[in-house]
Amino acid sequence: MRIVVVGPGRAGGAIALAADAASHDVAAIVGRTTAAAAGLAERVGAEPLAVGTVLPPADLLIVAVRDDELGGVAGQLVPAVGDIDNAVHVSGMKPVSVLVPLDHVGVRVGAFHPLQTLPDADAGAKRLPGAWVALTASDLELHALLVLLAGSLGMHAFDLADEHRAVYHAAAAAAANFPVAALALAEDLFAAAGVPFAAARPLSEAVISNVFDLGPRVALTGPVARGDNDTVHRQIEAVSESAPEWRGAFLAFVRALARISGRLHEYEDML
Ligand SMILES: NC(=O)c1ccc[n+]([C@@H]2O[C@H](COP(=O)([O-])OP(=O)(O)OC[C@H]3O[C@@H](n4cnc5c(N)ncnc54)[C@H](OP(=O)(O)O)[C@@H]3O)[C@@H](O)[C@H]2O)c1
Repeated sequence: MRIVVVGPGRAGGAIALAADAASHDVAAIVGRTTAAAAGLAERVGAEPLAVGTVLPPADLLIVAVRDDELGGVAGQLVPAVGDIDNAVHVSGMKPVSVLVPLDHVGVRVGAFHPLQTLPDADAGAKRLPGAWVALTASDLELHALLVLLAGSLGMHAFDLADEHRAVYHAAAAAAANFPVAALALAEDLFAAAGVPFAAARPLSEAVISNVFDLGPRVALTGPVARGDNDTVHRQIEAVSESAPEWRGAFLAFVRALARISGRLHEYEDML
C-alpha cells in the first residue's frame, strides 16, 4: 500500500514507522514545513513535504494532526490531494464529517483510530501490533482498505459508528486514564503509610488481568464487594486524616464500586 501521512507527531510517527516496518511504501510525510517532516521522512524513506504541496499518488492519506486542527488541515489538503482517493483521520472523538472538504472533491473519507496510547513515534510503533483499531468508513472500498492496513500492522479491527464516537472516546478515557488517577491516589496513600508504591505492582497487574479474564464485576474483591461497611468507613476516615485532598476522589471511587457491586443503597449515608 502507498501511504501519505500528514502530521509527523506521535500518532503519525507511530503509524508511519509501523507501516514502513510492515513493508508498506510510505511515499510522503507532510508537516507544517518540509523541515518539520524531514526527520520522520528520512527514517521511512519518504519524501518530506510542506502542507499545501501537491501530494504524490497514494492508496491512502492518513491525517494525524491534533483533533482541533483536522478541519483546517482537511481544507489545506484539498488543492494538494492530487490522485489520492482515500483519506482517514486517526481521532477517536472527531466525526468523519470533519474531513468534508476532502469528501467534496471526491475523496472517500473515514477514520482509523488506534485504541492505544502512543507517547512517541517509536514507543507507539511498538505498541500498534496487538492493539485494536476503530474503523469508520461507510464506503466499502475504503473499509476493505482499512481492514487490510489493520491486519498488515498486526492490529485487530472493529467498526465504530460515527454517532457512537463520543461515548466510545469516554470509554477509552475511562480505560486508559481513570486507572492512572486511582494509582496516583494509591501512591500518595502508600506514602502516608510508609510503604513503597512498587509493592502494589503485582497486585495492580493481577487486577487488570483478572478484569479482562473474568469481567470487572466478577473480578472485584475487597470490602465494598464483600459488604464490610465498617472497614470502608474506617478507610474513609483514614484518607480524610492522612490525605484530605484525596477524600472527594476516594468517595467517588467507593461510590463507583458500590454501584458495580449492587450495594449503592448501603452507602447512601456514608457517601
Ligand atoms: N498520541 C496518542 O496516544 C494517540 C492515540 C490515538 C489517536 N491519536 C490521534 O492522533 C491525532 C494526532 O495526535 P498526536 O498525539 O499525534 O498529536 P501530536 O503529537 O501533536 O502530532 C500532531 C502533528 O501534526 C502536526 N501538524 C499540525 N498542524 C499541521 C498542519 N497544518 N500540517 C501538517 N502538520 C501539522 C504537528 O506539528 P506541530 O507540532 O508543529 O504542531 C504535529 O507534528 C489526534 O487526532 C489524536 O486524537 C493520538
